[in-house]
Amino acid sequence: MRVFLEAGRLTLRRFTAADVDDLVDLDGDPAVMRYLTGGTPTSREVIQDEVLPRFLQYYERFTGFGFWAAVDTSSGEFLGWFHFRPAPDGPVDEAELGYRLRRSAWGRGYATEGSRALVHKGFAELGVQRVFALTMAVNLASRRVMEKSGLRLVRTFHGSWRDPIEGVEHGEVEYALTRTEWERENAARGGPAD
Ligand SMILES: CC(C)(COP(=O)(O)OP(=O)(O)OC[C@H]1O[C@@H](n2cnc3c(N)ncnc32)[C@H](O)[C@@H]1OP(=O)(O)O)[C@@H](O)C(=O)NCCC(=O)NCCS
Repeated sequence: MRVFLEAGRLTLRRFTAADVDDLVDLDGDPAVMRYLTGGTPTSREVIQDEVLPRFLQYYERFTGFGFWAAVDTSSGEFLGWFHFRPAPDGPVDEAELGYRLRRSAWGRGYATEGSRALVHKGFAELGVQRVFALTMAVNLASRRVMEKSGLRLVRTFHGSWRDPIEGVEHGEVEYALTRTEWERENAARGGPAD
C-alpha cells in the first residue's frame, strides 16, 4: 500500500488497478451521485477504461497531487476518495479539493478530517498558493465540509451542463483559501505556519 497521508482515522493511499469493484460500488449508489449526475451510476466499463486509468496517470504527471483512496486506518475498509490536484487548465500551484464517500461513511466527520489534512499538507509541504473547491449550491453537506476545512465562499456561478440535474438552477459555488489567509489564521491561533 503506497500511503500518501495519514489523516486521523483515515489513511489516504494511491489507487491501484485492484480498486475497480470499490469504485463501481461507490458510484453505484444514487445518493452518492445525486449532485454529480442526478443519481445515475458510473458503469463498470467507464470506471475500468476511463476513471481509474485517469486516477493512475495522475501519479506520473504530478508529484503530491492526484486522487487518493480513503481507507479506514484500523480496518483497511474502502471509504471513498479525495482529490487534491491542479485544475485541468489551472495554475499548478492552485489545488482543487474534492471528495466522494460511501453513504455508510457519511456524517462521521471523515470528509472534514481528510480535507483538513490535505489543506494542511498543500500549504505546509506542497507549495500550494491557493486551495479551492467547487460544488452545486444545493449540496449543503459538501459546502459545510468546505467551511469546516477553512475555505470561504468566493463566488456563485452558473456553469454549462450537458445534462442539467435537479438544483442546477441555483448555480454552483466556489470556496477557497489562500496561503496568506492560511498563514494569518495559523498566526492568530498562535501556532506555527507549518
Ligand atoms: C459531501 C460528503 C463527502 C460529506 O462527507 P461526510 O464525511 O459526511 O462529511 P462530514 O461528516 O465531515 O461533514 C458533513 C457536514 O455537513 C452537514 N450536513 C450533512 N447533510 C446536510 C444537509 N442536508 N444540510 C445541511 N448540512 C448537512 C453535517 O451535519 C456536517 O456538518 P456539522 O459537522 O457542522 O454537523 C458526502 O456526503 C458525500 O460523499 N456525498 C456524495 C458525493 C458528493 O456530493 N461529493 C461532493 C461533490 S462536490
